[in-house]
Amino acid sequence: MIQRYDLAPLDGITKVVFRRVWNRHFGGADRCFIPFFSPTDHHVMTARDFRELDPAQNRDLPSVPQVMSCKAPDFVWATEVLGDLGYTEVNLNLGCPSGTVTAKGKGAGFLAKPEELDRFFDEVFSQVKLPVSVKTRLGISDPAEFERLLEIYNRYPIACLTIHARVQKEKYRGPVHLEEFGRALENSRNPVCYNGDLRTVAEVRTLEERFPGVESVMIGRGAVADPALLRKLRGGPAATREELQAFMQDLYREYQAFYGQVGTAAQRMREVWFYLIHLFDDAERLNKKLRRFKNPGEYEAIEAAIFAELPLRDHSEGDLI
Ligand SMILES: Cc1cc2nc3c(=O)[nH]c(=O)nc-3n(C[C@H](O)[C@H](O)[C@H](O)COP(=O)(O)O)c2cc1C
Repeated sequence: MIQRYDLAPLDGITKVVFRRVWNRHFGGADRCFIPFFSPTDHHVMTARDFRELDPAQNRDLPSVPQVMSCKAPDFVWATEVLGDLGYTEVNLNLGCPSGTVTAKGKGAGFLAKPEELDRFFDEVFSQVKLPVSVKTRLGISDPAEFERLLEIYNRYPIACLTIHARVQKEKYRGPVHLEEFGRALENSRNPVCYNGDLRTVAEVRTLEERFPGVESVMIGRGAVADPALLRKLRGGPAATREELQAFMQDLYREYQAFYGQVGTAAQRMREVWFYLIHLFDDAERLNKKLRRFKNPGEYEAIEAAIFAELPLRDHSEGDLI
């Protein structure tokens, strides 16, 4: 039985303004993961990093910060700073598939070096004061790599092992590897959270039936594509057109206040619409315009047309990317 719903970190999308506004309008997440913070060996938190992690901005949200590092001293330093800011858990990113990240041996790139990962955990768990959870993939190119990785994870008291059921090479596309996830769930000594491609209430229920032992799921793109998804999972109603419009208007306003520039705010809105547009029928023409608008005025006109003209579905359809 699923007892916990986590909002996934989506760098560039579920940043602090989105999390705040989304929680106010829809919510339903037990925990919201903050997109990764990447410490350097200078051990300074930049103003930009702090803006995202600032406890005042994240107040009233059950937030878990995420750190991406392959160096134990940097990771431990980050946990200390985050502890001082009041956070009670830190998540390690072992899932980011981007080439620039993996080339540095970070994110999913760390999964290519199990012995180093083992040494990293050994050093980290002998020093950290806060609980550490991990967000991982199944491996680099073959899900069978997970057996070896799980042996390592099982040696440490990981607060929760969130598994995105793909390998690094698959990025965010193609079918998820549910069989391998099932083996991981059976053999993990630590609590396991499922992540990957959950878009509708029916999909979550199907997963729950197949894996009754899974206690938590993490949802990312599905919660942007249908902002009421987590609310519905808790028995609440689907989003109405008025609610969605109020949500998007609030988001636009808060982006403008946060960035101080209406152009940047409109760009951010385009990224949200990339997913949200699939909640509307007959959206092709306006979606094309959304991808191409050149200034905030054009954006505002397209948004108004979407809400005035397009029929709303009660759940998102189609691929997440
Ligand atoms: C645009 C984008 C940004 C992401 N940023 C992060 C991140 O900062 N940290 C992380 O662990 N995962 C990140 N992810 C991965 C998601 O957290 C999640 O694992 C992935 O989208 C699969 O879950 P979903 O199908 O529910 O979206 C990102 C994914 C996307 C598409």
